[in-house]
Amino acid sequence: MSVRQIDPWNSVLHTPLEQEDKEVYDIVENEKYRQWSGLELIASENFTSQATIEANGTALTNKYSEGLPGARYYGGNEHIDELENLCRKRALAAFGLNPEQWGVNVQPYSGSTANFAALTALIQPQDRLMGLDLPSGGHLTHGYQTNKKKISSSSIYFASMPYQVDQATGYIDYDRLEQNAGLFRPKLLICGGSAYPREWDYARFRKIADQHGAYVMCDMAHISGLVATGEASSPFDFCDVVTTTTHKTLRGPRAGLIFFRRDKGDDLENRVNQAVFPSCQGGPHNNTIAAIAVTLKQAASPEFKRYAQQVRANAVAMAEALKKNGYKLATDGTDNHLILWDLKPQKLTGSKVERICDMAHITINKNSIAGDKSAVTPGGVRLGSSALTSRSMKEEDFVKVAEFLHRTVQIAVAVQDKAGSKMMKDFVAALEGNEEIAQLKKEVIEFARSFPMPGFDPTKIKATVQY
Ligand SMILES: Cc1ncc(COP(=O)(O)O)c(C=O)c1O
Repeated sequence: MSVRQIDPWNSVLHTPLEQEDKEVYDIVENEKYRQWSGLELIASENFTSQATIEANGTALTNKYSEGLPGARYYGGNEHIDELENLCRKRALAAFGLNPEQWGVNVQPYSGSTANFAALTALIQPQDRLMGLDLPSGGHLTHGYQTNKKKISSSSIYFASMPYQVDQATGYIDYDRLEQNAGLFRPKLLICGGSAYPREWDYARFRKIADQHGAYVMCDMAHISGLVATGEASSPFDFCDVVTTTTHKTLRGPRAGLIFFRRDKGDDLENRVNQAVFPSCQGGPHNNTIAAIAVTLKQAASPEFKRYAQQVRANAVAMAEALKKNGYKLATDGTDNHLILWDLKPQKLTGSKVERICDMAHITINKNSIAGDKSAVTPGGVRLGSSALTSRSMKEEDFVKVAEFLHRTVQIAVAVQDKAGSKMMKDFVAALEGNEEIAQLKKEVIEFARSFPMPGFDPTKIKATVQY
């Protein structure tokens, strides 16, 4: 068979990225260089596997497949159907779920869209929902609003009332939640969060919800890798719907999943599937679904169980090392992959420590701590152990990471003194030419580069920047 010539105007379709678009290529290579050269402590991030990255970058991106396997709006979906069925099967298997009891929709583009679709399935516009307050560690999509503004669509289209953690202990105040639910009479209770270092009392949520005939939804985005491996207790026994992102502790591509009960008789299956498509989304991202399937196969392996155990052990080692240096942690420690570090005793804000860490190639994020006076200047930072555990770090490495963090705080205290004011702009000005940060950065980069880099080969990076 003879193959015809490529039309000249189509030659771009056959050219590798490096040749076709050097600007984008350079940005990608520079970002790989940054990831390899730094200490990644953002609790919502991870380094996904080479196989996941490969699956994510496939020609499956070309295919439209609105609908579900066996019931599509377009033809040519025989392989896509096989893929989506495989992904659904693996999702249930990874979380040990019985297909008679649970089903799953693997099409959500991300965690926020999964949550909005789940709300669309479960309740009507203006129905009442309760979720953990954002400053208490909840997520925007659990009904967040401020005095002045409804921030999330989950507060724009639904009536929301938050519950909070106890300011003294940092633990969720379940008694107050129960009392307030008695007044507010929610249709939906949401558990799960973005910055809560402890276990969730799912049975208590169920009990409170049952007092009002409400649904319970868990957004296990942060801990789904721990749930899959039994390293965190499972929400499935007590919830009607469970959502998750796939890119945090689960270590997959950026996407979302929605699990729903099939055995409750109120047709959650159709309601969730319809809410995802056509209510909230269009065609699924099939390349992403392939990458999720790869991730879920890995998540069901004994190696991933070992990884999840190490994630927790590393978080504990980092927490203990910080405490040894006299620091205060919300709830005094952690049960999972994250630590909320209260910097108010050091009279620092999270933004200042975040700034110094950034300069030293340690990536963290400022985070509010229960009892903060201002939501604009959070009093702490959030640290997570999942990404660095993917770089094969162990407890003693996290003790070293905690020492680096201790140095950033010592520098921040000294710089704040030198600045002679608490204003961020004075602080930033006083950071100029700081030798200690330059030295710390050197040590951090050397330390970071001494660990393996998942997903790609660091010796092949063609960065145009240099640290
Ligand atoms: C608990 C929780 N749910 C949902 C999300 C949103 O996920 P995405 O950024 O994929 O929309 C996040 C993101 O950080 C999260 O922490």
